[in-house]
Amino acid sequence: MTAPRLFSGMQPSADSLHLGNFVGALLQWRELQRKHDALFCVVDLHAITVPQEAASLREKTRRTAAQYIAAGIDPEASTLFVQSHVPAHTELAWVLNTITGFGEASRMTQFKDKSARQGADAASVGLFTYPVLMAADILLYGTEVVPVGDDQRQHVELTRDLAARFNSRFGDTFVIPEAITLPDTARIYDLQNPTSKMSKSAESESGVVWLLDEPAKTAKKIRSAVTDTGREVRFDRGEKAGVSNLLTILSAFTGEKISALEQQFEGRGYGDLKKAVAEAVVAEFEPIRARTLELLDDPAELDRLLAVNAARANELAQERLAQVYDRIGL
Ligand code: ADP
Ligand code: NA
Repeated sequence: MTAPRLFSGMQPSADSLHLGNFVGALLQWRELQRKHDALFCVVDLHAITVPQEAASLREKTRRTAAQYIAAGIDPEASTLFVQSHVPAHTELAWVLNTITGFGEASRMTQFKDKSARQGADAASVGLFTYPVLMAADILLYGTEVVPVGDDQRQHVELTRDLAARFNSRFGDTFVIPEAITLPDTARIYDLQNPTSKMSKSAESESGVVWLLDEPAKTAKKIRSAVTDTGREVRFDRGEKAGVSNLLTILSAFTGEKISALEQQFEGRGYGDLKKAVAEAVVAEFEPIRARTLELLDDPAELDRLLAVNAARANELAQERLAQVYDRIGL
């Protein structure tokens, strides 16, 4: 029995990942890589669907890869690579573009949201076909499982449709992948605005904890988290969004159940809770930060790791692409 193939990725869209990315992606990946044949990608080709500055994109790509490794994605056990290092992604995306309906692509809600924010004329055709590139990412590797956030579910549905369509037109070629979505306990909210998701595009910096923040800054942000006027440490997203978020974070970092934490903090105040959260987060992030800086300090070694991993991905990807070209007469 071989382990099921898994593919996931993140865009290199900031200098540092944040606590939400850590809990919602890296922590999950770290566990999933044990029981899967996993590929983890830094999807730089997706990042250029919105304007980027060259030097900054290159830097963010390296930093994102370094954070994957520092957080425990093992570049020996898993395949950890940069999307643009494997040309088959764009080649398969083109083929899939030719079997994607214009109307079908137009129904993607993420494009509608993003293009509405940018204005119809500012949005690129690349942004429009982004989900087709994502389908290529997944289908190239015979992926069986794709861990994604809720906002990507529709794209995995499209991927499944395209795979099935190709298979029925040209013969069995692609594995139909399954999405695994995040448990509710892996969704982290903004510390200052605990009803919105923690996000790199947050209005206020102080609600977002960055993986590469200095420990004192991390602790300060957590101590300043918004709570409520009550005093009971209880999980209740409706009435106590801030406290519930802190409990969620503590649970993710300690592995303790929320109910066990509620008991542990019975009769104690929010100050104690924040202190425990800050300690747990700093204990986890401090070594990750140090390891990331170490990796970035040795560019030759990071490049070597990424090249070895890209070669592995290339081999798998080329095999499937050759089969695709053969099936369609190229
Ligand atoms: P952002 O919202 O900061 O732009 P992305 O959309 O690039 O982050 O998401 C990258 C990955 O991190 C995805 O797997 C997504 O599900 C996860 N993620 C992002 N924000 C959060 C959050 N607040 N809580 C849990 N997971 C998150
Ligand atoms: Na993603």
